[in-house]
Amino acid sequence: MTTPAAPAVAVIGLGYVGLPLAVALAKASPGERIVGFDIDAVRVDELARGHERTGEVAPDALKASRLAISADRQAIIGAGIYIIAVPTPVDAENRPDLSAVLGACALVGEALAASPRLDPAPIVVLESSVYSGVTEDVCGPEIARASGLERGRDFFLGYSPERVNPGDRSHGVERIVKVVAGETPAVAERLARLYRRATSSGVFVARDIRTAEAAKAIENAQRDINIAFINEVAMILGRLGLSTYDVLEAARTKWNFLDFRPGLVGGHCIGVDPYYLAYSARAAGHDPEIILAGRRINDQMGFYMADRIADALGPVGNAAPRTLVLGLTFKEDVPDLRNSKVVDLIEALRRRGHVVAVHDAEADAAEALRLYGLALLPALGAGGPYDCLVGAVPHEPYRRLDAAALAALVKPAGLVADIKGMWRNISLPPAVRRWEP
Ligand SMILES: NC(=O)c1ccc[n+]([C@@H]2O[C@H](COP(=O)([O-])OP(=O)(O)OC[C@H]3O[C@@H](n4cnc5c(N)ncnc54)[C@H](O)[C@@H]3O)[C@@H](O)[C@H]2O)c1
Repeated sequence: MTTPAAPAVAVIGLGYVGLPLAVALAKASPGERIVGFDIDAVRVDELARGHERTGEVAPDALKASRLAISADRQAIIGAGIYIIAVPTPVDAENRPDLSAVLGACALVGEALAASPRLDPAPIVVLESSVYSGVTEDVCGPEIARASGLERGRDFFLGYSPERVNPGDRSHGVERIVKVVAGETPAVAERLARLYRRATSSGVFVARDIRTAEAAKAIENAQRDINIAFINEVAMILGRLGLSTYDVLEAARTKWNFLDFRPGLVGGHCIGVDPYYLAYSARAAGHDPEIILAGRRINDQMGFYMADRIADALGPVGNAAPRTLVLGLTFKEDVPDLRNSKVVDLIEALRRRGHVVAVHDAEADAAEALRLYGLALLPALGAGGPYDCLVGAVPHEPYRRLDAAALAALVKPAGLVADIKGMWRNISLPPAVRRWEP
C-alpha cells in the first residue's frame, strides 16, 4: 500500500464552516491533496457515508469531492497550510470559551512536530470568529508549546474570518469576499493565492492579523446591535398599538434607512460574537455599553414576544390554550438548533399556561429532543386545529403556506402570531385574530 502524499491543506473542524470550505478548496485544487479532519468520529463517519447533517454541502457535491475526510491525526501531518475552523462559544458567564481553539492548536502543533521541514514553512490559519489578538497571543504560543517549534521561523500564523451565511445559497463560501491576513506580507500573499482559488468574489488582504480579527468581530456585533434597535422599536411600537412591520414599510422608503426586522437572535455567531468583542473591550479598559445593551435586548426577545402573544390570545374558556409553534431552529432554512431563542418563547408560553406543540421543517427530531427535551410533531397539521399558531422561524415551507392551509391550522376564532411577518399578505377568515410585532 502506498502512503498518500502530504496534504497541501488540512482543514481542522468539519462543521458548518470547515466542511464547505474544505470541499471548495478540494474542488479548486486539482492535483493537490486536501484533507478535512474532525475529532468527532461520528461526524467523519457520517460524511464518509455521504450524509451531511448541516445541509451546507449537497450530497452529490460531497460524493463527487476529492476531499480526504479523516478522524485520524496522522492524516494532517506534513500539510503546507492548516486551517482551523472549530467552535468559539461562550461559557455560562458569557466569557469567550477558547477550549476548542486551544485543542485544535495543540493538535496542529503535534502534527507540525511530526512533519518533515517544509520550505516555505507551514502556515496555521484561524477561521474561527474570535476577538482581536487570539491568533497571535493564544494560538501562536499554544502551537509553539505543542510543537516545540518557533513561530515566525518554523511555522507562521494567519487569520481569515469566515463570513458564510448558512442556509443562504447566495452567500456560500464560493461567493463571498474572503478577508485574509498573515504575520508577514509573504504569508498573506500565500494565503491570498490559496483563498482566491476557492471564491469567485476575490480576496481582501487586511493590514495585519489583529485587524482582520477585529473586522469579523465588529461585523457580527453591528448586526446584533441593528437588530436590537429594531427589537426595542418593536417594544415601543407595541405599546403604542402600532405594527412594527407597517412602520418599517414606510420608513424603509428613505434612501438611507437600515432595513432590519424584529426577531429572535440565536445561533452560534450573532448572539455570541459580540461577547468576544465586549471581552476584549474590557480587557483594553473600555466598558462596552451599546454592545452589551444590544445583547440584553436581543436575549429577552423570546420572553417578550411570548408575553405579547399570550396577551393577544387571552383566555380560551376554561381549558389551557393549545399553541402550535412553527420553527425551532435559530434561523430559517437551516437545521441548526444551537442556542435557539425559540426555546425561550416556548418556555414563556408554557409559563403563561399554554400547552405548546412544536413543528420544524428542517430540524432533526432526535436532536431537538436531546438538546431541549422537545418532541417535534411528526407532521405539520398533527393535533390541530390550535387556539394559537406562532410563526417563529420562516422556513421555506412555512413561507409557502396559503390562506387555506393557515386557516386549517387554527380554530375559527384563534390567533395567528406572525413574528417574522411572513404571512402579512395572506387574507384569513375575519374571525381569526392576528398578531405581529
Ligand atoms: N456557522 C456559521 O454560520 C458561522 C459563520 C461564520 C463564522 N463561524 C465561526 O466559525 C467557527 C466554526 O463554526 P461552525 O458553525 O462551523 O461550528 P460547528 O460546531 O458546526 O463545527 C465545528 C467542528 O469542529 C470540530 N472540532 C471541535 N474541536 C475540534 C478539534 N480540537 N479538532 C478538530 N475538530 C474539532 C467539531 O467536532 C465540529 O464538527 C466558529 O468560530 C464560528 O463562530 C460560523
